[in-house]
Amino acid sequence: MRLNQRVMTLDEFTIQELRNYPGATGQLSGLLRDIGLAAKRVNVEVNKAGIADILGEAGKTNVQGESVKKLDEFANDQLINSLATSIYCCGVASEENEEFIAFSDEHSKNSKYVVLIDPLDGSGNIDVNVSIGTIFSVYRRLTPTGTPCGLEDFLQQGIYQIAAGYIIYGSSTMLVYATRRSVQGFTLDPSIGEFCLSHPNLKVPENSDIFSVNMGYYHLYDESIREAIQLFMAKDKKEKVYRHRFVGCMVSEIHRTLIQGGIFMYPAFGKYSQGRLRLCYECNPMSFLMEKAGGLAIADGKRRLLDIKPDELHQRIPIFIGSKNMIEMIQPVIR
Ligand code: AHG
Ligand code: MN
Ligand code: MN
Repeated sequence: MRLNQRVMTLDEFTIQELRNYPGATGQLSGLLRDIGLAAKRVNVEVNKAGIADILGEAGKTNVQGESVKKLDEFANDQLINSLATSIYCCGVASEENEEFIAFSDEHSKNSKYVVLIDPLDGSGNIDVNVSIGTIFSVYRRLTPTGTPCGLEDFLQQGIYQIAAGYIIYGSSTMLVYATRRSVQGFTLDPSIGEFCLSHPNLKVPENSDIFSVNMGYYHLYDESIREAIQLFMAKDKKEKVYRHRFVGCMVSEIHRTLIQGGIFMYPAFGKYSQGRLRLCYECNPMSFLMEKAGGLAIADGKRRLLDIKPDELHQRIPIFIGSKNMIEMIQPVIR
């Protein structure tokens, strides 16, 4: 972003996009602006996490049996409240809530989109000041407008997403989202409190030298997964050397991959026999975004992630996602 250059805000950008598509109703643009506003509210709290009493555990476990942090709850409430107040969303499903919420007021019932959220991703990083994020995914409802939304609206294959993206609360705060047409990145300018277009038309490099996987579980992964990981581990100094990264926050891994290329893997193992990450809240939105940026995402050697039909909201799935050439390298190896 060059200084003194006039940059477009998220609101300006989405409104300009509308002009390019005369048939568009503006509902999706409005929804993205509502999500952006909720993200700004979460960002304020994240930034003062050290001084306000929002570090640490809330003393509960969520539906997945994981401990809930105070900031998890705050982010969940902010996003759900924004979407409930929005006139563009008829219901929301959150990683933090067991059931989806159908908004029953007239405006919401008449809107056509449902939203799925991981309100705070990488929450284990909160207390140590490492990047965290928010993930969102938007589908057009299948149930008729004017009625309350239903479970089927949320359990759609990832290929049917209308938009998906994330907010990363990092060295700067960014909102990155994909629609069917493109991937756009906005950086929060704290001086005006607006997301400004900083990374237009993002494309992921086809190749890279970065691989990311939790190596602590290496010996617990299936043999074919270990073989795939070994493709990135030089056995002598003549082989290409890859750099290994693992942040413990999928949003950060995906953001780095989008900018620098690479591969991020979260295979199934032991206690996570179906995988660790959630299909509807984490893997589908990130896979949609990665594909729109020119990358790939698979659940195993045979299944494209976005083709999988979810059976339940909190379903988990293994994921291998990133630069096209690196996914193609491991695809024939993993089962
Ligand atoms: P969440 O905070 O929403 O539960 O997600 C954390 C996830 C994911 O972002 C990250 O890749 C993974 O947990 C890391 O888990 P491990 O450190 O257990 O491998
Ligand atoms: Mn998460
Ligand atoms: Mn979470």
